[in-house]
Amino acid sequence: MLTVEKLTSGYGKVTVVRNVDIHVGQGEIVSIIGRNGVGKSTFVKTLIGLNRATSGVIHFKGVNISAMKSHDRARSGIGYVPQGHGIFPKLTVEENLKMGRDINKSSPNLDFGVVYDYFPRLRERRLQRAGTLSGGEQAMLAISRALVGRPELLLLDEPSEGIQPSIIVHISDILKRINRETGLTVLFVEQHIGLIQQLSGRCYAMDKGSIVGELTEGDIADYDSIKQYLAV
Ligand SMILES: Nc1ncnc2c1ncn2[C@@H]1O[C@H](COP(=O)(O)OP(=O)(O)O)[C@@H](O)[C@H]1O
Ligand SMILES: [Mg+2]
Repeated sequence: MLTVEKLTSGYGKVTVVRNVDIHVGQGEIVSIIGRNGVGKSTFVKTLIGLNRATSGVIHFKGVNISAMKSHDRARSGIGYVPQGHGIFPKLTVEENLKMGRDINKSSPNLDFGVVYDYFPRLRERRLQRAGTLSGGEQAMLAISRALVGRPELLLLDEPSEGIQPSIIVHISDILKRINRETGLTVLFVEQHIGLIQQLSGRCYAMDKGSIVGELTEGDIADYDSIKQYLAV
């Protein structure tokens, strides 16, 4: 589904992401873990095209998308949930979902009813302004806004940020259910150890913009194996 080769990117003359090689197979849930400031967000932004790669190649469904504009990458089937969720606080829940609906023109959009079935709290709050939702509800809305464009690959940048532990478990369960029921492929970056352990099928560790480790399902279950890439 996604193959990244020797990807390098940054800001101006500053290189942040260095020579990253990763692959994500169809239907996998893969995470990239690492401390604050190692380049996780820069990497995800480079995948969706908000940051230009200085070198390297990104293949999505066998197509080289490296030179594609961000909205074309979204239309080709990549959903993106930015760090901090990126919802529009003055708009209602339903208006936020409408913003996501027209992104992916290549396949029919999901009915709002489908995402409301996954996240019933959003149905109850559909006429409420998004800025008045709890952190967990804002995360659910951001994920739903990406899902209504019917992506094949969902990119999530620190979905746990600003959310209570019990809601992190709930959101993780829903993402796993969506993955199981629809085959949605998920790539997320995280430093919250609970979510990493609950959700990842496989995991890459990033430090100073490079991939410095690869963890299998067995390694992920071992707290210390993960912690070494996260603790200061
Ligand atoms: N818009 C930007 N302009 C310049 N430097 C940036 C910008 N965004 C992030 N950086 C720098 O890039 C590095 C990696 O940041 P980031 O990708 O946000 O890391 P992470 O998501 O892992 O916390 C940091 O040193 C940060 O200061
Ligand atoms: Mg970040």
